[in-house]
Amino acid sequence: MQTFTTAAELTGLLSAARRRGQRIGFVPTMGALHRGHATLVRRSVEEQDLTVVSIFVNPTQFTEGADLTAYPRTPEADIALLEASGCHFLYMPGVEDVYPAGTAERLTDRLEFGSLTTRMEGIQRPGHFGGVAQVVHRLLEIVDPHVLYLGQKDYQQVAVIRRMIELIGSRVVVSTVPTVREPDGLALSSRNRLLQPEERRAAGAINGQLAAVVAGLQVGWPARELERIATATMHQLPLLNPEYVEVFDGDTLLPYQDGDPVRELVVATAVRVGRVRLIDNRIVPPAQP
Ligand code: PAJ
Repeated sequence: MQTFTTAAELTGLLSAARRRGQRIGFVPTMGALHRGHATLVRRSVEEQDLTVVSIFVNPTQFTEGADLTAYPRTPEADIALLEASGCHFLYMPGVEDVYPAGTAERLTDRLEFGSLTTRMEGIQRPGHFGGVAQVVHRLLEIVDPHVLYLGQKDYQQVAVIRRMIELIGSRVVVSTVPTVREPDGLALSSRNRLLQPEERRAAGAINGQLAAVVAGLQVGWPARELERIATATMHQLPLLNPEYVEVFDGDTLLPYQDGDPVRELVVATAVRVGRVRLIDNRIVPPAQP
């Protein structure tokens, strides 16, 4: 694996590869890598000729300064995991390389995301998706991959990035990878390592509540009632502080109205566990005919 700290060094090699007809897969990350990230990288390695991973803790998507400062950074372990996963090129830039003209200029601010950014994480973390769109736009400009690999774990992020790609008229294909979980169901997240042992145990209940909502929807229970029960149950459990449980249409991210025909039905939650904020979601499997 070759590591680059500047876009200038990387883009030359990538253009040469593109000219040779090689297909490029790209996995953007913020580091503190785990098996979830490794799954995305391995998928790209299997499917493409050349895999590029970026590690960049993007300041513009953090809405709380303390969250940015506390964000775990484990560069040596990250490099070892990427080597083991078969990654070819690692881009590990500083802020000035990603944003040479400063962070204020945001082409993506002019894009219209409608209901994709006005609900759930968009409410709880105002400005967050503006920062995500900004950095992914910039990283796509640098790497110019054929396929962009994203995790379903961040469902709303995938929806926003897909729309951004559509609006800028890029031809990059988005490939989504299912959420990788711990044995108790907790979705792997870089933030999990900030949990105290008791908090980590408590967090294991989050996915069970999403599973209960899915089961309820499959037997036709009202969505709002299921959201209410899951929220109340988590509130009663020690150390869990749910911010929302939402059942929504996967295309618009608008609340699901019982009986509406939707292409993909999803339930998502954000829960504070001590000082750590975790998100998770599940896609409701279509009813069997
Ligand atoms: P980060 O949280 O590091 O995640 C990088 C990628 O890994 C994202 O596409 C995320 O959805 C995926 N991922 C995280 N946990 C996962 C899990 N348990 N299973 C499967 N995939 C998982 O998401 C970001 O970084 C940033 O917002 C970024 C897109 C890099 C822009 O800065």
